[in-house]
Amino acid sequence: MHKPVLTQEVLNIFDPQPGDNYIDCTFGFGGHAQEILEATKPKGKLLGIEWDEKVFKEDQKQFKSNKQLILVNDNYANLKKIIDKNKFGKADGILLDVGISSWDIEESEKGFSFRKEEKLDMRFNTKNDITAKGIINNWNQEDLEKIFKYFGEEGFARQIARRIIQERDIKPINTTNDLVEVIAKSVPGFYRRNPNFPAKIFQALRIAVNGELDNLTKVLSQAVEALNKGGHLIVISFHSLEDRIVKNYFKELKANNTAKVLTKKPLTATLEEIKNNPRSKPAKLRAIQKL
Ligand SMILES: C[S@@+](CC[C@H](N)C(=O)[O-])C[C@H]1O[C@@H](n2cnc3c(N)ncnc32)[C@H](O)[C@@H]1O
Repeated sequence: MHKPVLTQEVLNIFDPQPGDNYIDCTFGFGGHAQEILEATKPKGKLLGIEWDEKVFKEDQKQFKSNKQLILVNDNYANLKKIIDKNKFGKADGILLDVGISSWDIEESEKGFSFRKEEKLDMRFNTKNDITAKGIINNWNQEDLEKIFKYFGEEGFARQIARRIIQERDIKPINTTNDLVEVIAKSVPGFYRRNPNFPAKIFQALRIAVNGELDNLTKVLSQAVEALNKGGHLIVISFHSLEDRIVKNYFKELKANNTAKVLTKKPLTATLEEIKNNPRSKPAKLRAIQKL
């Protein structure tokens, strides 16, 4: 369903021992968490946070009999509140494996993939009012261009935004295919020949819909605060914008002697892992130890 990435690297850094307590801010299908739960048996606790309601419900079923686990359906940006509400106390390690899972792409039917004909939704949590369809059909040209440029690092941001405004006046852009067609009409032929040409626009929309960079920025300081002295924070990210936020924040922590940076350069997947799980290729892991 979903293969966790850089699992051995995560375990090497955390080195979880019986009785240790962990927080997994992006529980997903519990790939990383399962290994940690096993190593911290029988008394170690794990607070697992998952924002997506469907994934959360599946987790509740899957891990029903696990007494070590506390599962919460919330946004990790609310980490401090979640910890307080669950009286979890300080953690020995905190993991963030940000972004989407293979399930989101293959099974969620939320329009995350430009290769599948689905409604343009892209919300991790349906309580969120903003959908990808809402953005595409309502935002003005300037704001669309901004998200395509900054969240998607898309070179044809202006052209695509302009075309969206024109096309949606003729007929609403409701599905992934509708959007791919509009993008295809807006970019030059050489660009369109790259089979991944809509990817950056889809990435930008996902980030905007879910406030992903904001969430990441908000959680980092709360995570450091929630660690025991000597505890570890690991962040796995999948694109340069997220990695930059993490890198800069870790630099600050080093400068004010709050933490030791354990990864001068980010760790990446081995060739063997990439062969078994191509999704691991762009993954970058950065870690600190709280002083
Ligand atoms: C890359 S997957 C994590 C996979 C997990 N480590 C595993 O091994 O199964 C990221 C997960 O985080 C969830 N997620 C994304 N943003 C979130 C947020 N702000 N708060 C909590 N969960 C979030 C997604 O729904 C997704 O299930």
